[in-house]
Amino acid sequence: MRDDKPTAVVTGGTGGIGRACAVELGRRGYRVLIVGRDSARAAAVLADLDGSFVRADLASMRETARAADEIAARAPRLDALLLCAGVLALAPEWTEEGMERTLALNYLSRHLLVRRLLPLLTVAPSGRVVLVANAGRYRDTLDLTDPHLRQGGRGLGVVSGRTQFANDLLAVELADRLGDTRVEVSCVYPGLVATDVFAQARGVPRPVRAAAALVQRLLGAAPSVAARGPVTLATDPAMTGGFFGPGPRRLRIPARAADPARRAALWTLAEDLVGPWLPSGPRRFPDGHDPERPAHGQGRVQGLGVQLGGKRA
Ligand SMILES: NC(=O)c1ccc[n+]([C@@H]2O[C@H](COP(=O)([O-])OP(=O)(O)OC[C@H]3O[C@@H](n4cnc5c(N)ncnc54)[C@H](OP(=O)(O)O)[C@@H]3O)[C@@H](O)[C@H]2O)c1
Repeated sequence: MRDDKPTAVVTGGTGGIGRACAVELGRRGYRVLIVGRDSARAAAVLADLDGSFVRADLASMRETARAADEIAARAPRLDALLLCAGVLALAPEWTEEGMERTLALNYLSRHLLVRRLLPLLTVAPSGRVVLVANAGRYRDTLDLTDPHLRQGGRGLGVVSGRTQFANDLLAVELADRLGDTRVEVSCVYPGLVATDVFAQARGVPRPVRAAAALVQRLLGAAPSVAARGPVTLATDPAMTGGFFGPGPRRLRIPARAADPARRAALWTLAEDLVGPWLPSGPRRFPDGHDPERPAHGQGRVQGLGVQLGGKRA
């Protein structure tokens, strides 16, 4: 393992689009840390890669924070963070931490990973954050007063679609907060891709799931093709951030995703929800115990708690 190799983290690197991204990054000379739950699938991916596996259930904020610490222990700097892990769900479920599972996995874990790994990204020559989501395709169905759907609600927009829109807001907000740094933030829609996402969908009647998975297999692009967009955004020094897809085709950012008040409101809520697991966040555990000591960062730039290098440095 060479020390001067660029390093990338790929969540969901055990399957689907994430796996294809990990393989392509390896082919391009990156050391790749893949994050997922399935050790056997991880071993298969890593058989031909210079990299390692970080096992974590990203629906758990405790495990997400631990994964970030493991990554930090293995990599002194991160050139790219590709956030692919995700699920399609039509019905809410709740985690042991009391969070709505789809929101936790598709959105809150991404917010938390970015927050904890920013110090590693900012020391790279041109750190990249790539959110694999739907890049402007979903309406604003976020109810910030009931993020864990305690008041009820189900369906694509209410459970999953809102997490895709939350990724849109996160991408624009992060890019704004990191404007003076060398980090570029992209949100990319991969297109319809022949992966397990429909077969693994939750809260969908089995026959509907099977039919959708079949259509996806027949009509979807190969994951290796879909990986080109995220990998280009993660590696090409000429690419600046924004919304893209399918592939590295730049998209217009919808006004609803750029709305400063909406972005700020979601950021504040996310900071509150993941607060107990932030490196220097508020400690909100009911029994008052401090679950972790701050792991990174001394200075604070735009509320991110990290020392940042200038974009034009
Ligand atoms: N496929 C499409 O047509 C399409 C279209 C638009 C957007 N997307 C987005 O693209 C991303 C990747 O989707 P995909 O199609 O590649 O899905 P996929 O084939 O189902 O793969 C999902 C990946 O996420 C990981 N994952 C799932 N739950 C996890 C958890 N709780 N903790 C950690 N890792 C977890 C899985 O790994 P383990 O099983 O090892 O945990 C797997 O590697 C998703 O965010 C999806 O919303 C996909």
